[in-house]
Parts: sequence; C-alpha cells; structure tokens
Amino acid sequence: WEVSWDASAAVKGGYDTFMDKEIHEQPTAVADTLLGRVDERGELRLDEMRIDPSVLRSVDKIIVIACGTAAYAGHVAKYAIEHWCRVPVEVELAHEFRYRDPVVSEKTLTVAVSQSGETMDTIQAVRHAREQGSKVLAIVNTYGSTIAREADAVLYTHAGPEVAVASTKAFLAQITACYLLGLYLAQLRGTKWIDEVADYLDTLAQMPASIQRILDEQAPAVKALGEELSSHGSFLFLGRHVGFPVALEGALKLKELAYVHAEGFAAGELKHGPIALVEDGLPVFVIVPTPRRPMLHGKVISNIQEIRARGARTIVIAEEGDSAVEPFADHIIRVPATPTLMMPLLTVVPLQIFAAALATAKGLDVDQPRNLAKSVTVE
Ligand code: AGP
Repeated sequence: WEVSWDASAAVKGGYDTFMDKEIHEQPTAVADTLLGRVDERGELRLDEMRIDPSVLRSVDKIIVIACGTAAYAGHVAKYAIEHWCRVPVEVELAHEFRYRDPVVSEKTLTVAVSQSGETMDTIQAVRHAREQGSKVLAIVNTYGSTIAREADAVLYTHAGPEVAVASTKAFLAQITACYLLGLYLAQLRGTKWIDEVADYLDTLAQMPASIQRILDEQAPAVKALGEELSSHGSFLFLGRHVGFPVALEGALKLKELAYVHAEGFAAGELKHGPIALVEDGLPVFVIVPTPRRPMLHGKVISNIQEIRARGARTIVIAEEGDSAVEPFADHIIRVPATPTLMMPLLTVVPLQIFAAALATAKGLDVDQPRNLAKSVTVE
C-alpha cells in the first residue's frame, strides 16, 4: 500500500492555500508575539531589546521605516505611540527615506519593520539612519536576518514562517509588536498613560480570541461576498484615524491577490476629490470607528451616507451593536467591540479574507501572485 498523502496539504495544515492557513494562524501569531513579555505584575518586560533605558528616555523623535504592508503597520503604530508617549512618530517608506535627506540625530529612534528582514530598501534605510547617528530597533519576523543583525536592537515578532507572498499574520504581529513598543516607552518615560498600560495589555491579551471570533463567525459571509463581487474591476477602501492604514492595507491585499484596481484613502479626503470616482454599484469598503468615539464615528457615518447617495455599494466593517450603520450599509461585517487604537487587529481580517476569496473565485494563485516576490531583496 502507499500513502496517498498530499505532502503540501499537510504542510498547509489541511488548508487549501498557505494564505488561508496563515489568515487562520493570526490569533496564534498575536498571542505568540505577546508571550513572555508581560510579567506577573502586568508590567512589560522588553529587556530583550537591549537598548539602554536612558537612551529610550532621551528619544525625541521616532521614525518608522518600512515598505508595503509593513509600512501600514508603522502607520498604525504612529497613532498608538504618539498617543501613549507624546513623542513625534514619522512613518517613512524606506525607499523614500534615504533620498530625502531626512532630519535624523542621536536622539532619533529609527524603527525598521520588516517580515523578512531582507528587504533591500529597508536595509539601505537602516544603514543611512545609523550613519546619521540614530539608534535602530528592528521589528522583524525572521531570526538572524540582515536587518536584525545590522540593527542596534531587535524586537522579534513571533508570527512563525509566512509562506504566502502577501503578508497577513506577520502584519498583525508587527502591529502587536509596535503596540508593545509604545506601551513600553510609556511605562519607561512615565507618561500620563502609564496607568493605562495594564488595561491596554489586558485588551491585547483578548485580541487572539476576538480575531478567532471573526474567523469563526464572519468568514463564511465575507468569502461569499468575495465570490459575488469577483467581476468588479475597481474597489475603494475608506478609513479614518487608525482605520486609514487598514483601508490602505485592504486595498493592497486586493491589488496583489486579485490584480484589480483598489484604492485606500482617508475618509476625510472623499470630498477633496475621490468622491468623483463614486458611481452606481461601485463597491466601497468603509472601516467604521467604535461608536464610543462619537466625533470620529459620526464623521464616518456621514461619509457612508455621501457615497451611498451616489450609488456606492457600501460594505461596512463595524463594531457589534453599532446600529447607526444599518440604514446605509449594503453589507455589514461585524467585529467585537475594541478600543479604537486596537481595532486594526480586527478590522483588517475581513479585508484579507475578502481579497483571498475574490482572487480564488477568479482562479488566481493566492500564494504566489504574479510579478511578486516574498522578499524584495533588490532596490
Ligand atoms: C505584503 O503583502 C507585500 N507583499 C509587501 O508589501 C511587503 O509587505 C513588503 O515588501 C515588505 O516586506 P518585508 O516586511 O519583508 O520587509
């Protein structure tokens, strides 16, 4: 007898694609990135970073350098770290950073975010930042990678090997690591948010279960929507505050997996031009902030009304129990209630599932999209 056993099926953990497997590994990727970094008193322990606390206390600017999806994790980090630490955070595309003669000093902390740790654009930006006297902290997913070796310190993400070219679990792990960095800096610098650190860590600890709920409860409907909309050639993604980088990431997933035009932008930009794109039947994803931020929430509800009035097919990612979206949403995808800053860990998951489902419906290879490499090791 012979084993009629598909080796790749086993390697894919029983999933049809690495993309599907890695989307479903996201609760573990977040949990593993948190593991062992909070002590029994609920304090953050990031001694592994081996950056002298006095250096971190003296930092007067943070520059996040990254590319693609990793840069969108950096954008989420900006909102969180600036809120908790009151230190200005610039997010720079690595390939732009080097050539624009950036303002960098020994009081600048440069954070290089990279799944592979081998992205040449980011490597070159790290070298440039170090030449300018900046301390460099690498947030990478690959042990012993070039960026890890060349940085002054490393805060590893523990997403496990990410095989699919389009990043999913590494993205959530990068965001998680950036939250840990921000909370650690707040704890170290004694900012006014120091009492909130423990609460945020508690919230973070609940994220794996919340992500799992989305995978269990929302995935089937989102997949069906991806199949239903597979003939559309253009999609918009709107978000505000931390929903903006999520909109950018949702659009990128659709571009790189399904090869369709997709654009993400800040919801507030709508009336400054992009609303001219809105026409009858155009699918528009809108990432809605929690209703517990009424100002932010209300503005996005108005944006949904504006595009719906112009015929858009509104696909809304909203918190459970948020009934304000119902009159204006053609489709509602629910995520568990979560503090604003942590919502990206949840709101991006349906967008990943949607992009993979639409690409699969088109018969495309979601693990190895055309023209793309897992690590861009050339400039
Ligand atoms: C991810 O979906 C993209 N394929 C790509 O943008 C990637 O995030 C970017 O190339 C950076 O890669 P890195 O994280 O390995 O540095």
